[in-house]
Amino acid sequence: MATRIGFVGTDGRTFLAALETSRAVSEFYAGEYEGVVVRGTPAMPTFAQRQGWPIDFIATADNSTSAYAEALIQAFRQDTLDIALIMPEALLFHGLVDQVAAAGFGDRLIGLDQEGAFLEADKIAGKELCVAAGIPVAPWTTVNARDYAQVLATSLDFLHAHGGVVLKYPYSAGGKGARIILHSWEIREVYDLLIQDYKEDYTQFFGRKGPWPLLVEGRMSGVEISFTILVDRDGNFQILPTAMDYPERFEGPPGVNNPITGGMGAISPHPLESPELMALAARTIARPLVQALRSRGLLRPCVLYPGCFLSCTDNFQPTVLRVCEINIRPGEPEFQPVAKRLRNLGALLQAMVTGRLHEVQPEVRTDQISLCIALVTGPGGPKQQKGYPWSLTKGEPLEIDFDYFAKKNITIIPSAMDWDPASGFKSDGSRVAYLVANVTLKEGQKPGTVVEILRQRLLTAYDQGKIRVIPREDEKGNRLALRRDIGHHYKLAEILRAR
Ligand code: GLY
Repeated sequence: MATRIGFVGTDGRTFLAALETSRAVSEFYAGEYEGVVVRGTPAMPTFAQRQGWPIDFIATADNSTSAYAEALIQAFRQDTLDIALIMPEALLFHGLVDQVAAAGFGDRLIGLDQEGAFLEADKIAGKELCVAAGIPVAPWTTVNARDYAQVLATSLDFLHAHGGVVLKYPYSAGGKGARIILHSWEIREVYDLLIQDYKEDYTQFFGRKGPWPLLVEGRMSGVEISFTILVDRDGNFQILPTAMDYPERFEGPPGVNNPITGGMGAISPHPLESPELMALAARTIARPLVQALRSRGLLRPCVLYPGCFLSCTDNFQPTVLRVCEINIRPGEPEFQPVAKRLRNLGALLQAMVTGRLHEVQPEVRTDQISLCIALVTGPGGPKQQKGYPWSLTKGEPLEIDFDYFAKKNITIIPSAMDWDPASGFKSDGSRVAYLVANVTLKEGQKPGTVVEILRQRLLTAYDQGKIRVIPREDEKGNRLALRRDIGHHYKLAEILRAR
């Protein structure tokens, strides 16, 4: 009987991970696995059925933590699910693991409990843990967000010392709490926007009178890179292949008009991945982090996803990795190209809950590069919305040339997508879908050149309107928007390395 693995959540990584769990065939690890999406979005079951994809679904009554807990407990009781990986951090912050564990099924879940979730839920406490564990971190301090004079002075100091500063709302912010300042002129505007966005949350937690903790970090230069670390119940760990994330909404430096989003695309592996880099990440981050969890009694099967900056020598040998923050779930969309290069995701997840992760290595399609581009809701709409990640219009119909995508070997992953029998697939705002494709690198081919061809394949599909959200005001238009430079860093890496 196949092992049924649930991917809990409503986004693209949830759907793709379930698909790859069912589809991928391992050469080295016996076992049959079926991917199940727990909840998903309304479009996903119909989408999977339309494509003939082997994904099963478990519904939840609503989007609340208790509804997820109820669905998981029932599925474990009825043996319709064997294991579940919880994707959205908010469910971990709100104690989904604790609720399911209280019903006796904690050993089937992958994710930290509420006590351990502070690692991501409280970024200041997460930093303190890293420092205590000897993990190199970005320069940082904390200030009182209510005190603009203090924020200004600290920002100016950090700009002087590090060339840039990041103001971070240190609690749950759905990936949007980091505000980067590269010029002194922007300090006031960035500060005002941050306070506007988080005033309510601050007031709720700390009242109107007390200090509001704000994390201030030096904006590091160097190469941004994150690591997906799988940890089993006994503290064995495996690091999955890397991916490069594209967090800014548009190409170019971040700023008030180019905010950090949830992620506009990703490519795996990261162009600077090397065995030395993976060894450095294991030695200086993964091992001390797992040890810190163990010594605090927080160790559980979990996914850790530290975001780091890499320094290297002039021939790209890694020297130091400095951690900016630790996430406690797979990255979105980074997990998509990562999972698409794995042949044994099911076996890895099973080993996490049985304490056998030391026996199961990630089985990676090392000859392949995987590219993932987010298709987001662009500007326009009845209220002249600004588009993702700002205000969004929803409910417009999607048009997809499925045959074209099948012919071009491009996988469409639905995300914020709705469906009803009368009108079919519809946009539900934010990141509507992803285009994902792999390319195989042949002997003697240059990765930079091959990735450029792959990138063009995905961009052409979009440019030719093969997937469209039809705007209300223009039936020939396309509401979907994307970033055109996702993956281009392979070419840049090649140029950098050329002597
Ligand atoms: N793409 C950024 C994240 O998942 O945190």
